[in-house]
Amino acid sequence: MNELYEQLLFEAKKACEKSYSPYSNFPVGACVLYESQNKYTGCNVENASYGLSLCAERNAISSAISDGENSKILAIAVYSPKQKKCLPCGACRQWIDEFALNNKETKIILEDDDSKPLVLSLEEVFPLGFKMTNNN
Ligand code: THU
Repeated sequence: MNELYEQLLFEAKKACEKSYSPYSNFPVGACVLYESQNKYTGCNVENASYGLSLCAERNAISSAISDGENSKILAIAVYSPKQKKCLPCGACRQWIDEFALNNKETKIILEDDDSKPLVLSLEEVFPLGFKMTNNN
């Protein structure tokens, strides 16, 4: 399992190299693994109008959805060279929760201080997310 998580972090790092973040100078990369075994990557893309910036995790998930991915998220690795243990922001946690499709085992993979994978569960970082249960 650790080898898989290292691979996801490696791909998040590669994606991070494509980041467009001249305003924050805070590049982020993400790699999301689905139950289908498909993987998608994304980087943050900023804009002179700061609030329009897009996060790496949501870009990775958008690529997956645009590709027709419909299985559940098993894990997502997030990486920034500027910060060890770079956690997903609240908006990205809500997005990950949406596409985890009630998978309680979904993992968030970060890089720890020794450059090893730190594995958290979505459950622990986002326990009571909003879900639309009555949309009839
Ligand atoms: N950022 C991400 O890409 N993911 C997160 O979960 C948190 C923040 C980006 C947004 C912005 O381009 C930069 O990091 C600084 O906030």
